[in-house]
Amino acid sequence: MSILSHVEPIPEDPIFGMQAAIKRDKNKNKVDLTVGIYYDEHLENKTMRAVVDAERELLKIEKNKVYLPMGGDQEFVRASRELVFGLKFANSEKKRFAGVQSLGGTHALRIGGNLFSAELTKSIYFSSPTWANHQAIFKASRMEINLYPYYDQERHTMEFDRMLDTIRKAPKQSVILLHACCHNPTGCDLTQEQWKELSELMLKGQLIPFFDLAYQGFDQGVEEDVWSIRYFAEKGHELFVAHSFSKSFGLYGERVGAFHALLKGEKAAKCVASVLKGDVRASISNPPRHGARLVAMVMGDQKLKKVWEEELSSMRIRVKSQRSELIQALVSRCGDDRFDFLKERRGLFVMPGLKGEKVDRLISEYSIYLTKSGRINLTGLNQENIPYVADAIFKMIG
Ligand SMILES: Cc1ncc(COP(=O)(O)O)c(C=O)c1O
Repeated sequence: MSILSHVEPIPEDPIFGMQAAIKRDKNKNKVDLTVGIYYDEHLENKTMRAVVDAERELLKIEKNKVYLPMGGDQEFVRASRELVFGLKFANSEKKRFAGVQSLGGTHALRIGGNLFSAELTKSIYFSSPTWANHQAIFKASRMEINLYPYYDQERHTMEFDRMLDTIRKAPKQSVILLHACCHNPTGCDLTQEQWKELSELMLKGQLIPFFDLAYQGFDQGVEEDVWSIRYFAEKGHELFVAHSFSKSFGLYGERVGAFHALLKGEKAAKCVASVLKGDVRASISNPPRHGARLVAMVMGDQKLKKVWEEELSSMRIRVKSQRSELIQALVSRCGDDRFDFLKERRGLFVMPGLKGEKVDRLISEYSIYLTKSGRINLTGLNQENIPYVADAIFKMIG
């Protein structure tokens, strides 16, 4: 008998777990709306042009593959800081920052969890619902998980007042995890007025903002989508950011991200930077070179940066047009305004109101794959499959 014979499997991952079933499905009408990957109108994900160009150049100039420092590629970390906080603030407040390169946004969240758990608090609050992996990440960091109401799935509305009520009662120095833009899974974001109210409440309650930034550029633009973080920074919060380059640079499998802490005072920033490097050393020793270098090269070259921005902008336009087309297709089937709430959504995802047995039936009867929570990746849709998907959704909830 194995020394590990007592081990029970953990439940399948709610998002990636479905991939094998999708591959096996022979239905030629099948539609994959599950994983948060950007697909073009041919339902393909192609490496972004600026990244391909940088990669070609890198091949010519890279001389070796020696280890990066524990904190990662410093030009990349600076580029990330500037993308999040803006050139001016990132440089004028440089000494108040501690930041390290991470393996995507996931690892940046975990680095944050480890720091809080060891040095500050075990109490973390995140939105209900949220990205499925938040639970696992902060559990692994031995945080105590609490939820704040965020979205009413029956009425399809933001639950801002209930959100504030819960956050108001959170113990001092609790970490409040916030999606900076394009909330996953609901696509429902706070307005600027609501961010302002939240900032005031959190300053009063001495609560700690931790921004999860995974979709920069997928709502209004690269600068506009970090408005909330910059506002909080200017209001004087000490705050933390998990920055993912998976979607905005299409670097998914390269695992590129960064964790930033904005603190009061140079001394705290220095000490925290050393703790962050210690965490990296103990988990992965040195971050990987390739993807981070590509981002640094794109951001350090005006021409490549422009190519990147233009492509990201065309991706953003496609996301919006798929959202409008889905709404139109649903409206033409039901003839009223019951799907109008989808117009307010931002970013890759929407939840049109499918749950439980209805999700199961979409999968088993129509081979339309979406997460169990009822979340749809809009870029899994195109001209060809929208009528099929709209028919099926309308049959389920119309
Ligand atoms: C809300 C949110 N946070 C973080 C991540 C992590 O992204 P990655 O680790 O792939 O960079 C994702 C990815 O889907 C996400 O949706």
